Amino acid sequence: MGTRQTILSGMRPTGKLHLGHLVGALENWVKLQGEYDNYHLIADYHALTTDPDSSRIWSNSIDMLLDWLAAGVDPARSPVFRQSQIKEHTELHLILSMLITAARLERNPAVKEQVRDLNIENVSYGHLGYPVLQAADILLYKGDLVPVGEDQVPHVEIAREIARRFNNQYGAVFPEPEPKLTHFPRLPGLDGLEKKMSKSAGNTILLSDSPEEILKKMKTAVTDPLKVRRNDPGRPEVCLVYRYHQKFNPSGSAEIEAGCRSGALGCVECKATIAGVIASHLSPFRERRAHFESRPGEVTEILADGEARARARARTTMAEVRRAMNMG
Ligand code: TRP
Repeated sequence: MGTRQTILSGMRPTGKLHLGHLVGALENWVKLQGEYDNYHLIADYHALTTDPDSSRIWSNSIDMLLDWLAAGVDPARSPVFRQSQIKEHTELHLILSMLITAARLERNPAVKEQVRDLNIENVSYGHLGYPVLQAADILLYKGDLVPVGEDQVPHVEIAREIARRFNNQYGAVFPEPEPKLTHFPRLPGLDGLEKKMSKSAGNTILLSDSPEEILKKMKTAVTDPLKVRRNDPGRPEVCLVYRYHQKFNPSGSAEIEAGCRSGALGCVECKATIAGVIASHLSPFRERRAHFESRPGEVTEILADGEARARARARTTMAEVRRAMNMG
């Protein structure tokens, strides 16, 4: 083909991002930006599916965008934009909503899980349509690949089905997008190896945390319950702090493992070591974040520029859609 493939990645604006976002998504986004055409979407309409309160969406979007930029997302190469500012998302969403049954959406395990986790009694029409809106996000930019974690795969599957339906019904307009899974397993939160790091669980280290905050939080991390005293032998395989060593301190993790097993290394020292490693790993990040934080005008310009470029691409696709549908 010769032309570059397109990647569409997105996140709901939940505010400041944490280490799990860096490891699970952002590092990957940054790595991919040289090889593909990337679009980075702030899913602010999606935020309304679980909470109609829109008062914090703007500040949460900016906080998230600062973290993207600090992580190395290059807005000159890869447009960053809010879904709500490109009206083509709502148009395509409406058209695509005719191409999937309500029963199919009711079976979607990702929405089911969310409804269960958030104790939602009656799911709204819009929430049920979450994956349809996501399909519009992806297909508007003719995304070939969607970098996601396991939990999002059912959504991408629905986007594929909808793309196929559209192409059969009206003519070949859309590629069938594929999930691009990240390989590093989910980062555990500070409260246990089997709990993933997440804002709602309150077990996070934020990318913007200071070295002091990181150390303070790390001290609360749950370790091997059988290692009670400093010299008790521990089991690194059940310890989330060791998992952090494997990820952020790969060259030192063999020594940590040996020290933990023999009992020579205590948890307090082990935690202080990894807190220091993570703090220095995040230090260039904090510097870049501070740079953008002190230049709010620059950040809104970056967003406006990204939105203009995304809009141009979205318009082109919608023109093709209308032509294919004979609704031009
Ligand atoms: N559903 C995604 C999440 O919860 C956010 C999202 C919205 C998205 N639109 C997207 C992700 C398009 C990838 C592509 O994080």
